[in-house]
Amino acid sequence: MLLVGTVVVDSSTVIHDGAVVVEGSTIESVGERADIIERYPDHERAEYDVLLPGLVGGHIHSVQSLGRGIADDTELLDWLFDYILPMEASLSADEMELAAKLGYLELIESGTTTCIDHLSVAHADRAFEAAGELGIRGVLGKVLMDKNAPDELLEDTDTGINETERLIRAYHDSFDGRLRYAVTPRFAVSCTEDCLRSARAIADKYDGVRIHTHASENRDEIAKVKESTGKRNIHWLDEVGLTGEDVVLAHCVWTDESEREVLAETGTNVTYCPSSNMKLASGIAPILDYLDRGINVALGNDGPPCNNTLDPFTEMRQASLLQKVEHLDPTATPASAIFDMATINGAAAAGIDRVGALREGWRADIIGLRTDITRATPLHDVLSHLVFAARGDDVQFTMVDGRVLMENGTVTCVDADAIREETTEISSNLDIKQSVTY
Ligand code: GUN
Ligand code: FE
Repeated sequence: MLLVGTVVVDSSTVIHDGAVVVEGSTIESVGERADIIERYPDHERAEYDVLLPGLVGGHIHSVQSLGRGIADDTELLDWLFDYILPMEASLSADEMELAAKLGYLELIESGTTTCIDHLSVAHADRAFEAAGELGIRGVLGKVLMDKNAPDELLEDTDTGINETERLIRAYHDSFDGRLRYAVTPRFAVSCTEDCLRSARAIADKYDGVRIHTHASENRDEIAKVKESTGKRNIHWLDEVGLTGEDVVLAHCVWTDESEREVLAETGTNVTYCPSSNMKLASGIAPILDYLDRGINVALGNDGPPCNNTLDPFTEMRQASLLQKVEHLDPTATPASAIFDMATINGAAAAGIDRVGALREGWRADIIGLRTDITRATPLHDVLSHLVFAARGDDVQFTMVDGRVLMENGTVTCVDADAIREETTEISSNLDIKQSVTY
């Protein structure tokens, strides 16, 4: 396939009259349109205004999708224990699959081609199968909770770890390598020391398996960790083995100087989730400090009940604006730094090579946007447009691993209307509020 348009290779290179050739699952060539057309005259051609690398959602909860809008105006622990955990606990296997599909559908429609996806305790198989079927790339993991959880989600440590190992064997490197596994303790509040240490041990046993958890998102959360362990959260995670280049920590809003040193020294990845942090009134993550220290920062939407969308373009905009106002510095987070977070940094956090830029020999994860709209007029600077003005709705084309998932604005990988209709039907019966003591 030959795609023509303005090609955003990465945050520093734009080819205005460009083209990309895809052969199988790989990008065969990227260059000037005229040259490429001459070299590949017989290739099937498609044209989009702007072509760019598919975006990477560095922290997503696809399976929370049925809870979009159920818990506005709450703070983290009430949001989680009064609404989200009871909802996750109430989902049947079929509902979990539907939730995952709805999440992946929204990601695919709005330009995310890779996600680091925090599932739930039960029915993780259904989410892996849904991701496999729809065609997204991802690092997914079943959640571990062996304390402070509703009864239906609480598992003893061995059960959670054994189930994790079964899922690693079944799904790590599955679907042509598109799906990989992350061992996923929920957060230190809901996991015993044994659980956290076992999470590290099981990840070490399998090549390429990541570790993904929430950390230091909210002040009450870090106070609880301090109360139970005597330590600040990042020091605690470091002590039990949950730091390192294979670890992705979502949020890291409330870290002190010594914890930031640990993150930098261990090469731990951080995912910045600005909309979630704003909506749950969690705080503002010290992203500039992390970048100054050389910490890899990815970008994530978190879940539909705390965002309330999975649109990666809205997230890029928020990511920049929040840091500019925090530092009262308009130069704090230029478009290029934010675009890197949503592409190449996200791929590094996910541990996936050849993703996050449009280069020869890289994986064919490509999206196409329209710019024949008022919001994109005039188009002085493509990167500025993508970060500050574009929206997920502008995405017209999504390809993952060379497979077209959406073209000309129509999703081709699944019956999108059927997923939306079924969701609306099921959601009226959801068990959404039920207080749990924590
Ligand atoms: N901390 C523990 N679980 C969650 C979750 O589901 N979402 C968010 N945002 N934070 C968490
Ligand atoms: Fe989260």
